[in-house]
Amino acid sequence: MQQITVRTMHPDDYPALLRLWLATEGMHLNESDEEEPFVRCLERNDGLSAVAVGAGGEVLGSVLCTFDGRSGYLHHLAVTPALRGEGVARSLIEFSLERLAGNGVMRCNIFILADNVAGQAFWQHNGWSERPWRIMQHPLPRTDGGSTQRTSAD
Ligand SMILES: CC(C)(COP(=O)(O)OP(=O)(O)OC[C@H]1O[C@@H](n2cnc3c(N)ncnc32)[C@H](O)[C@@H]1OP(=O)(O)O)[C@@H](O)C(=O)NCCC(=O)NCCS
Repeated sequence: MQQITVRTMHPDDYPALLRLWLATEGMHLNESDEEEPFVRCLERNDGLSAVAVGAGGEVLGSVLCTFDGRSGYLHHLAVTPALRGEGVARSLIEFSLERLAGNGVMRCNIFILADNVAGQAFWQHNGWSERPWRIMQHPLPRTDGGSTQRTSAD
């Protein structure tokens, strides 16, 4: 079995993360996944997000974790197909939940697409429960001249 290390996600991981996310089923990206907002997200949520790396430092898994001052959120949980079923996602989630708890956060939420049946089964298997809420969203104007598109669940 390949040696895997879970470590804090860094801004420099962006190119490898983008490749992983683009190759992962059930992962929908939007303009918030461009490099500048990605780096801002890491800065505002220092040390909460994690990557799983192989012996050569290659990025093989990820979880992006945020805290809004009230609740925690996990986004972009992904493990490269060849490495699935070996507890990598569990380790990534534990990394972020431990750090959220260390910040006094009492609950953590995830967004998952309604048609990601395998993903929902994963979260339920790992003790996450569906809540009776629906997400509603309003786009904001971009300040950099780009356009905001509704292409993602979050
Ligand atoms: C979901 C995903 C992250 C799981 O990664 P993984 O590294 O294979 O998961 P783990 O090996 O850590 O599994 C942890 C536990 O969940 C179980 N599990 C894994 N995938 C599962 C699934 N699709 N349904 C139900 N249980 C699942 C494992 O059997 C293991 O159970 P155990 O602790 O009882 O032995 C991976 O399949 C993936 O990247 N999927 C595509 C992206 C996605 O859908 N992400 C989640 C929604 S955002």
